[in-house]
Amino acid sequence: MKQWVVGNWKMNGSLSMVSDYVPALLDGLLELSGWERSLRVGICPPSPYLGMMASKLTGYPVEVGAQNVHPKPSGAFTGEIAPPMLRELGVDLCLVGHSERRQLFGETDEAVREKLSALLEANLTPIVCVGEVLAEREAGRHLAVVERQVQGALEGLPPERLAGVVLAYEPVWAIGTGKTATPEQANQMHAHIRALLAARFGAGPAAGTPILYGGSVTPDNAGALLAQPDINGTLVGGASLKPATFLPIIQHSLS
Ligand code: 13P
Repeated sequence: MKQWVVGNWKMNGSLSMVSDYVPALLDGLLELSGWERSLRVGICPPSPYLGMMASKLTGYPVEVGAQNVHPKPSGAFTGEIAPPMLRELGVDLCLVGHSERRQLFGETDEAVREKLSALLEANLTPIVCVGEVLAEREAGRHLAVVERQVQGALEGLPPERLAGVVLAYEPVWAIGTGKTATPEQANQMHAHIRALLAARFGAGPAAGTPILYGGSVTPDNAGALLAQPDINGTLVGGASLKPATFLPIIQHSLS
């Protein structure tokens, strides 16, 4: 399976940042010759920049991702963006169920499931984010919490659709805090998620499902995380905002 490196800009950036970032990223990637054979690289900028980012990346094997979507294809949903609109802009990926959306915007497991299904319908690759808060880990409930989130997101998913799904484990206490899960803590959860997938879809499909780690990933810790057998890539927040920190993470993903 290819390793994934996806940058989530969250609500950061500007038009001029997109203009400066894309050529710098492409220049850096050019130096990693053949990277596209073993990696999938994506960037999720805020929605106003998706079209510009996608057009600047046309013809390059770097994917563009949205950070949120509405599950309906059109309708009276003021302020929302539909999956076919993303597709039309040249978007390939979309985050679903990010902990900031769950915590700040009340996104439920049911909403995650609806969005997942709508994205697959529109030929977009969902990256389903799951992860426990600190109190849940301290209470020893982290495995159960993530299990509920994974089962909730994938309930009713036709087995043949799993091939289009990416999962991301992002422990909430590690997001934007500079605290990373240890490689062993992360891998334990990834293995747990994979076992859940295997029980539901079979060992082969489970082994083929990318499970990314996110939460304070930096050039310094990416190598150790990626060395774990069940970690198939990274979902990078703060360190994806500058090619100078994102590119070394991509480089670590190659080795
Ligand atoms: P940080 O890398 O800034 O901790 O953010 C992680 C994240 O939430 C990516 O989706």
